[in-house]
Amino acid sequence: MNLIAYLFSIIAIITLYSCSENNNKAAKVNPMYGIQQTNWGEYDSKKVYLFTLTNHNGIEVKITNYGATVTSWITSDMNGKKDNIVLGFDSLDGYLQKPPYFGATIGRYGNRIADARFTIGDSSYKLAANNGKNHLHGGIKGFDKQLWDILPISDSIPALTLTRISKDGEEGYPGNLKVTVSFSLIEEDELKIEYTAETDKTTPVNLTNHSYFNLTGDVTHNILDHILWIDADRYTPVDSTLIPTGVLETVIGSAFDFTRPKKIGARIESVKGGYDHNFVLNKNEGSYQLVASVKDSVSGRKLEVYTTEPGLQFYSGNFLDGTIKIDGKLINQHTAFCLETQHFPNSPNQQGFPSTLLKPGEKYHTRTAYKVSKL
Ligand code: GLA
Repeated sequence: MNLIAYLFSIIAIITLYSCSENNNKAAKVNPMYGIQQTNWGEYDSKKVYLFTLTNHNGIEVKITNYGATVTSWITSDMNGKKDNIVLGFDSLDGYLQKPPYFGATIGRYGNRIADARFTIGDSSYKLAANNGKNHLHGGIKGFDKQLWDILPISDSIPALTLTRISKDGEEGYPGNLKVTVSFSLIEEDELKIEYTAETDKTTPVNLTNHSYFNLTGDVTHNILDHILWIDADRYTPVDSTLIPTGVLETVIGSAFDFTRPKKIGARIESVKGGYDHNFVLNKNEGSYQLVASVKDSVSGRKLEVYTTEPGLQFYSGNFLDGTIKIDGKLINQHTAFCLETQHFPNSPNQQGFPSTLLKPGEKYHTRTAYKVSKL
């Protein structure tokens, strides 16, 4: 081969290689990338929509403005098989049957407030009691059962912001509260959720998302073999009505010790009713950090949780009792788990817990992300 022929063949090889690189890149670009909006029925004489957020990897998250609810999250397992990893319904009707907060945005206060009351200064407030004598997840018609307004969307970005005004007196809370929740699906297969709120009277605020995960993507499997790690050396033990006693108890050596990864089912039998507890995260106050992870060897999926919040409610799906069906399959106890980032339950009545009070002129702003990857 003379020198010219040799140079030509080198150039040909480089050109071929760079073409196939470009083709690979092109193949990665998903034509569905962005956000799509479809009609999903009516509620309170207003239109309900379903939004589909898709990233370049083909990961797809569906969210409705009813309850600002995540209804499905499609990801690939280790063999490329796509499944939904959260509990949810494919029609509005399922949600109108009041499932236990599947995927919903929870407010004005995530988790319980003892005796459905609290005081701020000289004023006492009585909330809706919807969990025995206690108040749970914002009351009878919390944020999860409200229709949210939609801020303008750009179809070329997989992001959605929903907003609502929770009126002074709603479920017993003081002040008009303007709330936004923004969802964005980024390339690292991560769903970022950002909350903001402003009020015109001092009020407790504690917003979270109540997604139920089953990383196998198959609700006929339970989650007891999922391996959980929580970066928390302490948790808040509860009384018989699931109200924290006020003590910050060490987890070390107990069934609550997930400081080293361990199967959810490893010691669940020794926890009465299963896990439904707030963990006191080790992170620095206000910083945004990785706080928990869950691994499933059946599907090869891993979930990571990042947050700015000081607490994490780990709920092992204890009250799921086979009365709800999804796609004809019964949702039995421990079919799914929740990792709800939050301030501690009953903080308005616990001086020792980080404050949840938002005052006029202040801005509530928290961030949480759920990131899915392969093991
Ligand atoms: C939270 C609560 C649980 C239960 C579920 C929904 O995780 O802590 O006690 O109410 O929501 O059923």
